[in-house]
Amino acid sequence: MDEFVVTPWEVKGRVDYDKLLRQFGAKPLTAEDVALLEKHAGEVHPLIRRGLFYAHRDFDFIMKWHGEGRPWALYTGRGPSGPVHIGHMVPWILLKWFSDKFGLEVYFQMTDDEKFYDDPELSLDDTRRWAYENALDVIALGFTPNRLHLIIDTLDIKPLFPIAVKTAKKLTWNTVKATFGFTDSTNIGLIFYPSLQIAVAFLPTELRGEPTPVLIPCAIDQDPYFRLARDIADSLGYPKPATLYSKFIMALTGESKMSASNPDSAIYTTDDERAVKRKIMNAFTGGRPTAEEQRKYGGNPDICPVFHYHMLFDPDDASVEKIRHDCRSGALLCGECKLMLYEKVSRFLKQHKEAREKAKDKVDQYRLSVKLK
Ligand code: TYM
Repeated sequence: MDEFVVTPWEVKGRVDYDKLLRQFGAKPLTAEDVALLEKHAGEVHPLIRRGLFYAHRDFDFIMKWHGEGRPWALYTGRGPSGPVHIGHMVPWILLKWFSDKFGLEVYFQMTDDEKFYDDPELSLDDTRRWAYENALDVIALGFTPNRLHLIIDTLDIKPLFPIAVKTAKKLTWNTVKATFGFTDSTNIGLIFYPSLQIAVAFLPTELRGEPTPVLIPCAIDQDPYFRLARDIADSLGYPKPATLYSKFIMALTGESKMSASNPDSAIYTTDDERAVKRKIMNAFTGGRPTAEEQRKYGGNPDICPVFHYHMLFDPDDASVEKIRHDCRSGALLCGECKLMLYEKVSRFLKQHKEAREKAKDKVDQYRLSVKLK
């Protein structure tokens, strides 16, 4: 079955990423775009070099804008409905890299409102609590403190609301219905919500009082918001946001995207060592059913979540290439490859958890409206 569906709330089936780009109308990230980044940053992050970030809107424009010495900022977000998994962290790792390389301010939106509207099981207290919990994972990545600005929607609405109101006036029911698939029984909170996710893209321009476009690193599922943002930006007098899109980190079960309803499909930043080991050792692989067949015919790293995760956790290109090669040739068996991955993931998580612990009680210091007071 080739059918697949990608919306900001749901991913079903095996995603054809090229087809999705054509459906959404975003552009593939070309060698010229990457060369432009290298020219300005001096290097290219492995997540881009390895093709995980594969598409964009106006990335070339933002690089040129930067080349002219004009101001820009970074923006991304999280819908706080539960713990953070490794997939969520992917855009945030790149966000931090951009912030460090280019000295950029980062606007990070926690949509406790969106998740409250969307999930009948969650109270507003729940989503707010998750916003604080998830913020620890963001802070733990080590952003320069005065450059990271957290926005928890229901708490930090003040600077955002006038922009959201102007945005909402430009968006018709017809447009949001067609873009997000809303129906007559969708609650009106969710119908208004896109104006808030779009509003943050215009916030840096308001705060600085001069055109300040944002670059938004995220997975491709968020494109519908920013397509709309770009459509209305001109008419509101704001620069169009630029975006950089990743594919999804595969689920450990081999599906295109991890699912909150199956906790074994993802590694969460709060998982303990035993859970991490169990999940990795039980993961689906691109290997053969028996060791003998694997040695004889080799495995298929392209469909293998374990290999996919090696690409995420190992910054050394030569080491990743060796794993790919040894998998294909049959020299590397899945059990061994999984143990190697476990070592890498557990090293990352140990350090991340320590940093996360240190961030406790600090979340409010990063909140935009607390700083603006
Ligand atoms: P949320 O919480 O669903 O996802 C947070 C971020 O993680 C990305 N993502 C993934 N990336 C790689 N592999 C995966 N398996 C995977 N799953 C999720 C998402 O694309 C997103 O970047 N409405 C948003 C919150 C939000 C936002 C934003 C996101 C508000 N403003 C601006 C991006 C940019 C949401 O619910 O994200």
